[in-house]
Amino acid sequence: MDHRRRRFLRWVGGGLLVMLLVFFRSAVKGHRLYLKQQQKPLRLPLDLSEGLSFHGKVIVVRDGDEYHVFSARCAHLGCIVDRTDKDTLVCPCHGSRYSLNGRLLQGPATHDLVPLRFRIDSKENSLVIEQPA
Ligand code: FES
Repeated sequence: MDHRRRRFLRWVGGGLLVMLLVFFRSAVKGHRLYLKQQQKPLRLPLDLSEGLSFHGKVIVVRDGDEYHVFSARCAHLGCIVDRTDKDTLVCPCHGSRYSLNGRLLQGPATHDLVPLRFRIDSKENSLVIEQPA
């Protein structure tokens, strides 16, 4: 009887170990894929319309040949700022307001929207923006 019990426990333990390994492997794989997607730069055409435009987690302000690029992630709790009201950017969650260059005008956020690094790829006629995390 004791022999059967030991064999059963070994079988169950082995099964659990295999399940843990499979789970761990898929979690690592998923995390790598997530990081890869996060690191992929955003490419936008250089001929964006003048002024402000929203691109998911990124806000671009074009003024002729000048571009100002910053994260759309609100500095309060991270909602995506995706609207304007009377020439101010407004967070839909708790109402923080920012100027069109990302400066904080009204809380509850406590600091400006984060400027993002970007470069102009003249060969591809595009703006290459590092995606925020
Ligand atoms: S997350 Fe934007 S104001 Fe709270």
